[in-house]
Amino acid sequence: MDVLEELRSYREKDIPYSRVLSSMCTIPHELAVKAHQLFIGTNLGDPGIFPGTVELERKLVSMLGELLHRRDCAGYICSGGTEANIQGIRSARNLKRRKDPNIVIPKTAHFSFEKICDILCVEVRRANVDEDYRVDLAEVEGLIDGRTVAIVGIAGTTELGQIDPIVELSKLSEEKDIPLHVDAAFGGLVIPFMDRPYPFDFANKGVTSITIDPHKMGMATIPAGGILFRDESFLKALEVETPYLTSKMQFTLTGTRPGTGVASAYAVLKALGYNGMREIVKRCLKNTRILVEEMSALGFEPVIEPVMNVVAFKTERAEEIKQELYRRRWVISTIREPRAIRFVVMPHVTEEVIKNFMGEFRRVV
Ligand SMILES: Cc1ncc(COP(=O)(O)O)c(C=O)c1O
Repeated sequence: MDVLEELRSYREKDIPYSRVLSSMCTIPHELAVKAHQLFIGTNLGDPGIFPGTVELERKLVSMLGELLHRRDCAGYICSGGTEANIQGIRSARNLKRRKDPNIVIPKTAHFSFEKICDILCVEVRRANVDEDYRVDLAEVEGLIDGRTVAIVGIAGTTELGQIDPIVELSKLSEEKDIPLHVDAAFGGLVIPFMDRPYPFDFANKGVTSITIDPHKMGMATIPAGGILFRDESFLKALEVETPYLTSKMQFTLTGTRPGTGVASAYAVLKALGYNGMREIVKRCLKNTRILVEEMSALGFEPVIEPVMNVVAFKTERAEEIKQELYRRRWVISTIREPRAIRFVVMPHVTEEVIKNFMGEFRRVV
């Protein structure tokens, strides 16, 4: 068999996005694909060889910074939310320099913080959430001590799409002089385009770093994550010497890294602009409403009224329903607590996809 034919046969085993209602990734925008192809072979790990790609990365970082109210922020485009979260916390830990450091995160934080705790040897303290699944401020305050090197707030939780009270967390972080890292891996490219955007970004003085992933709602090609810092000092805290490269220092976690995510993310944001992004987000929110109506008609109640295009519905049968759908090649997910089935209404989850899905869902339940 021809090798390409062989590759195709493997690829055909994958489930098409038109049957996926669980992923925070989506079909890349057609411009993202073209941009990706143009930058195949670029390596931002050796910047002297790719000055053009480096310049484009800086442009994209300030574009994202402008969206988050800090055009002159520092940062880079990385492999995704996990790396961005690691680097946000690593930088805060290096700057604060405390013995036996700890961080305070909401219980609803993404599992990348488990890895952070393991890799960075920081203790992770988990604060409870209120009845709306927003982190409880009194809990956060109670968990902070002299060894706390960072507080974390989430703008768009993985499971429910909820936004923590970042304004209040920021005040707390200023008061205690502790960096506040905001994980907006998902919400970073949703919230700014909503009708009433919640102020989750650098406009809050305590916010020192933000995770924002173009390979989620930015429709860039994978991998394209983003870590932005309030200023250069946070990047400096990550630097190591690079003896044999075209650069002297490196602040990234990975060495060799692609310029494809930079190009694809830039292409989408530049071509669509804020108005185009608003349209995409508006459609996803509308389709989320359609899904809620369809599910409500079958007696399923959302865990919280959806804040963005992530929604979970309570059911004791969550695991069984998920598995039965998977047998039928439909992918949804479940959440930790309460028992519920979860959906992410990405740009590929169109009205038609929802209609097809509901047909199958009715048969399953
Ligand atoms: C809030 C949040 N943070 C971080 C991540 C991790 O991102 P990645 O899978 O790109 O590493 C996710 C992934 O879904 C997420 O939802």
